[in-house]
Amino acid sequence: MYQVLYRKWRSPTFSDVVGQNHVTQTLRRALLAGRLSHAYLFTGPRGTGKTSCARILAKAVNCPHPSEGEPCNACDICKGIDSGSLLDVIEIDAASNNGVDNIRDLRDETNFLPSQGKYRVYIVDEVHMLSAGAFNALLKTLEEPPGYVIFILATTEAHKLPATVLSRCQRFDFHRISAEDIAARLLHVAEGEHLALEPAAALLLARVADGALRDALSLLDRCRVEGEPISAAYVARCIGIADRRYLFALIDAVLERDIATCLSLVQTLYQDACDMERLCEELLSHLRNLLILLTVRNPKEFLLCTDEDLQLYQAQAGLLTTPQLLRFTETLEQAAISLRRSTDRRLEMELALIKLSSPAPHESAPPAPQPSPTIPAPQPSPAPHESEPPAPQPSPTPHESEPPAASGEDRLFAEWPSVVVALQSTNPPLAGILNGSTAYVRGDFVLIKSDNAAFGAFIKQNTHANSLREAIYHVTDRKVRLGLYRSSAEQQPVVGQDPLARLAENYSRFN
Ligand SMILES: Nc1ncnc2c1ncn2[C@@H]1O[C@H](COP(=O)(O)OP(=O)(O)OP(=O)(O)O)[C@@H](O)[C@H]1O
Ligand SMILES: [Mg+2]
Ligand SMILES: [Zn+2]
Repeated sequence: MYQVLYRKWRSPTFSDVVGQNHVTQTLRRALLAGRLSHAYLFTGPRGTGKTSCARILAKAVNCPHPSEGEPCNACDICKGIDSGSLLDVIEIDAASNNGVDNIRDLRDETNFLPSQGKYRVYIVDEVHMLSAGAFNALLKTLEEPPGYVIFILATTEAHKLPATVLSRCQRFDFHRISAEDIAARLLHVAEGEHLALEPAAALLLARVADGALRDALSLLDRCRVEGEPISAAYVARCIGIADRRYLFALIDAVLERDIATCLSLVQTLYQDACDMERLCEELLSHLRNLLILLTVRNPKEFLLCTDEDLQLYQAQAGLLTTPQLLRFTETLEQAAISLRRSTDRRLEMELALIKLSSPAPHESAPPAPQPSPTIPAPQPSPAPHESEPPAPQPSPTPHESEPPAASGEDRLFAEWPSVVVALQSTNPPLAGILNGSTAYVRGDFVLIKSDNAAFGAFIKQNTHANSLREAIYHVTDRKVRLGLYRSSAEQQPVVGQDPLARLAENYSRFN
């Protein structure tokens, strides 16, 4: 019977798990030292190895012949856990068993000694789905579990767990897996499956999977062909994304304001059954690559492409400016949203391209006709004639409310450099722009001080603001609001907006 690749290739050992060394090393060391915790929390994005590691851990604590913190995978116990037949390892899907009664049953069960292994291990998946009552019931068990019970809670959304549960678990944060690591794993799996997967195709699949190895393996399943090379072009067709040449051609046509060519390209793609949503996403990532070229000092590190593609990108980036690219990105992001709702996606895509081809009010003719200048590599500020006026508002995105007025000392945001490093993998252009910036903490705001003129325009876009908030959350575990930093001298008094100031005012009025 055919087994899908991601199930067939579930990691049997910690050392086989990709891209989560910070988790697997720590667990192996603890196992070797016999330092076991009675409750673990595995959290992180989907398809990154949480369930896999939970099962490996369940095997490792129960296997009679573990070696170097790894299960043997050959004994009856290991095999029983793999096949789901060993009664001592219980997997519960909290999404469908989320009531108090489910957890009470589980609690009663923990009174039984393990039947074959040393530990009864409860793997509770999607634990954030438990009801409030169920959490309370779980808490009782977490407080004083019998010594032979281990809980492994797994979730993609740790922020939804009550603090009381969080504080009783040893927490491990799984990361999105880098495109390189995913591509390498795909090549390894392909070899085992006797598939002739080309490296460029592996990289393309990895890029589309966006950090989730399971998604990458599912995609590989979709383009699996026996006995023939699996090329990037084939993969692109198979999973419905545009060949890169189309992307270059489309942007060239946009720059030349050649709407006829734009529309005929869309028509060709449409007839090739190219998914319009996908095309829009691919165009966005194409623009992102161009932005990297214009804004980052060492773009090669951030671009996942062949040298040949790099030259194409460089040539195209030479025809564009940062504000222009930001405008294109914004337009396409809006189009991506309408596409999802629209019944006529092709029309939606065409409208977006027409919009891109029309001059923006402040944009003069594109600098296209001249031979492309050498790339103005690190571009600290956009060309003066094209630059949008710097954001006059203190708050970067329309949804953010105002940060409270400087009320004395702002605290330097010590983790900021780590946030910028984290952004390098999730949003390289923004990371590039934030080079050399600093940030301060004021209440639940993080206020950013950057000399880069492009920053204001960048952070006004939701995608960038969101990825910054995510990076901060990733590094510090804190949900924050964002603002631009102004020293108290520059700060206009905003009394009335600061709840503390208002409280103080009321207080003095009544006393
Ligand atoms: N870090 C990894 N190393 C190797 N394979 C992985 C990794 N992450 C995921 N996989 C592959 O994806 C499949 C699913 O992974 P797993 O179930 O462990 O993900 P998960 O983090 O629990 O996802 P979810 O949050 O959706 O439950 C595995 O069987 C394996 O094939
Ligand atoms: Mg899982
Ligand atoms: Zn074993």
